[in-house]
Amino acid sequence: MKAVVYEKFGPPNVLHMAEVPQPEPAAGEVKIRMHATSVNPTDVMFRSGALKGRPFAGWWRPKHTILGSDVAGEVDEVGPGVDEFSPGDRIVGIMPDMEGGAYAEFACIEASSAVRIPDNITYAEAAAFAFAGLSSLFFLSRIRALEPGKQVLIVGASGGLGTFAVQLAHNAGAVVTAVCSEENVALVKSLGADDVIDYTHEDPTKRRDAYDVVFDAVAAGSFGRYRRTLRRGGIYSTTVMKPRALMAMALNPFRPSRRRAHTMIASGDAHQALSHLRDLCERGELHSIIEVELPFQLAAMGHRRYETGHTTGKIVLTA
Ligand SMILES: NC(=O)c1ccc[n+]([C@@H]2O[C@H](COP(=O)([O-])OP(=O)(O)OC[C@H]3O[C@@H](n4cnc5c(N)ncnc54)[C@H](OP(=O)(O)O)[C@@H]3O)[C@@H](O)[C@H]2O)c1
Repeated sequence: MKAVVYEKFGPPNVLHMAEVPQPEPAAGEVKIRMHATSVNPTDVMFRSGALKGRPFAGWWRPKHTILGSDVAGEVDEVGPGVDEFSPGDRIVGIMPDMEGGAYAEFACIEASSAVRIPDNITYAEAAAFAFAGLSSLFFLSRIRALEPGKQVLIVGASGGLGTFAVQLAHNAGAVVTAVCSEENVALVKSLGADDVIDYTHEDPTKRRDAYDVVFDAVAAGSFGRYRRTLRRGGIYSTTVMKPRALMAMALNPFRPSRRRAHTMIASGDAHQALSHLRDLCERGELHSIIEVELPFQLAAMGHRRYETGHTTGKIVLTA
């Protein structure tokens, strides 16, 4: 089969097409004929050889030469013990943690990490919501942002995680303030933001005692900078586990105002969360925002664009 592979760490142009053996489904797995995946931060971190990715990607050279977490396609074959799917089913799922494998014509995943794609959703839209939608859902659930009336600030509202976070918080009845640049104001309003701060004109850290939750999806700030925007008992959560974020979290018990710092690796019940996202999409309550769809051959271009830090929604790669 054809796949986008990388044999050494480096810039986007280390990605290239190659002929590799097809994977075979083990017990409990399904083999998927891939239609779409999307570019995620872990793909870029692993490919570049960033130090924090090396324990997973390999110390000296890539352990797994095919990147990619989001899997959207049709079932080609089922492994022993799989009875929930049959060949031809349209499914979306997520590859095992940190192993990649989705930038390819075929991929095998645990059946328990996949759900059916509703008829009103394209493969590209499904691929776009898997990793980013799950990550946002895990974060927002953990910090209790998905509650009616909660004042929630979402920083990086126009990005991969942010576009889902705005919709999830809005659907849950939270009052959402989105932080983005001028050109994305209309988009985030259309996703359900009640208020928007254009960070190129207003410093989002200047409002006082305004939010129960600050979800800093792009880790643009820090607890120290956002602390005063929080109400008493409020929480600031950042998606990047920098030492400063971990230190701020360790100091939580010592703050009389009970304002808290938070960070984590997004994790939880993937099947349950994917089912929830799928149902929201099916009811038209959640939409994948896709900046561009690129064929696998142009994966390097997708990585280059992602690395600018200014993607609107997701970059999808199609088989
Ligand atoms: N801990 C975990 O388990 C976990 C899981 C998933 C992701 N992450 C992390 O989450 C982060 C976000 O990922 P992503 O894919 O959502 O990012 P992304 O799609 O690359 O975010 C890009 C968006 O961020 C906006 N942006 C850039 N600077 C901003 C600023 N100062 N204020 C507000 N918005 C700003 C850009 O808008 P403009 O173009 O308008 O500037 C753009 O729309 C990554 O660092 C990733 O590593 C962590």
